[in-house]
Amino acid sequence: MEDKQRQGKLWNGRFSRDTNAFVDEFNASITFDYRLYPYDIQGSNAHVRMLAKQGIIEENEAKIIIHGLDRIKGEFDDATFMLRLSDEDIHMAIEKRLGEIIGPVAGKLHTARSRNDQVALDIRLYLRDHINKVAKKIDMLRLCIVTLAERHIEFIMPGYTHLQRAQPVLLSHHLMAYFEMFTRDHKRLMECFAMTNVMPLGSAALAGTPFPIDREYTASLLGFDHASNNSLDSVSDRDFIIDFISFASILMMHISRLSEELILWSSREFAFIEIDDDYCTGSSIMPQKKNPDLAELARGKSGRIYGHLMSMLTMMKGLPLAYNKDMQEDKEPLFDTVDTLLLVIEAATRLLEHTAFKKKNMYNAAAFGYTTATDLADYLVEKGLSFRDAHNQVGKIVAHAIKNNKELYELSLEEFKLFSLQIESDIFDRITIENSVKNRRSAGGTSPQEVKKAISRARGILC
Ligand code: ARG
Repeated sequence: MEDKQRQGKLWNGRFSRDTNAFVDEFNASITFDYRLYPYDIQGSNAHVRMLAKQGIIEENEAKIIIHGLDRIKGEFDDATFMLRLSDEDIHMAIEKRLGEIIGPVAGKLHTARSRNDQVALDIRLYLRDHINKVAKKIDMLRLCIVTLAERHIEFIMPGYTHLQRAQPVLLSHHLMAYFEMFTRDHKRLMECFAMTNVMPLGSAALAGTPFPIDREYTASLLGFDHASNNSLDSVSDRDFIIDFISFASILMMHISRLSEELILWSSREFAFIEIDDDYCTGSSIMPQKKNPDLAELARGKSGRIYGHLMSMLTMMKGLPLAYNKDMQEDKEPLFDTVDTLLLVIEAATRLLEHTAFKKKNMYNAAAFGYTTATDLADYLVEKGLSFRDAHNQVGKIVAHAIKNNKELYELSLEEFKLFSLQIESDIFDRITIENSVKNRRSAGGTSPQEVKKAISRARGILC
């Protein structure tokens, strides 16, 4: 027995030889799952308290174990804990260290528990914690968007379809479209929280345990909604991770679209925005360059998150019940998704905060390119034409204007009358950029009145 303890493995009772060093290295997850230490300790703490309450271990034994766990937490916090590859994973490293600190009573910690339910618990605790961090970042981004929308309520820009100028819209309306996307993301994230907030401990290796444990008590100590239902499912379910990375993929897609627009808008071709110098980077060869790297990286990082989603789905799809070691591969994609997400949401927020919108350029772009042609058609509909006929007539007017190198508002009344006698001088008022925007009062439209409503609704959600 003593020999075996010297070899250092907690599970080596049935083995006659030490593990091969390559196998140790290949098998180990400690190089990345050490990040679970606070959650592993938190889970063990609750487990021990439950064991003592149920009389499965003595109260004073629980006290000693908890004291030892606290010390280990301190060692991790001060970075004095020695990580060893031969400990395989964070769970065994902590249990082994506990033995060194408090002696044989440490061996009672793992009663009625397996690493399979333990790791499932740890990841859920980790993710729950980080979902809250991500939610706060999304709130900051949403707040930034609403603030910008309020501040730029007067700014008019061209709205696009097919990336061709379509109709004038308020910049605030455009920005608030992103508020909607990130609000849906937030909602999806809250659903992820609910899926994650289920307590798997007590499922043991796969079939439950004969010990008289109280799983709901453990769940309540750890703030979970309830204990999981099926022990086989509990140790082999990683749906909550896939849910989270799906949510993350959609959010990254939104950030990527926002980034793409900022990149386009900062180009000389659009010149709608100017990103602050300290939020751009230069070129090593072209002295004139000012590049929107932050936005490009935010856009580019979406790829790795989609990759993580594919890794997880592929890793899980062929696994027979219950736990399989393949599932150790869940951690790196999850950790990287969380790290990337926190970073990218912050980058997007900072980028928006350090962007100046160029009112005049946006306005001029909106005023050029027949963007009020639909307003002219709507005017003719009011005069009694069907929309299709009106569309046709306006098409001809636009062709005439293009041929004469004029905008719609530069045509004379006589020119309008060449195409439609119903057009009167009040048309000039209808086809200004300002009135085009103002008139789109339908719910959710771009009129200042509607956009202000959207902004105050958003403020209501945020506080
Ligand atoms: N490091 C393992 C993982 O992350 C912990 C669970 C190991 N369970 C086992 N039966 N070997 O999945």
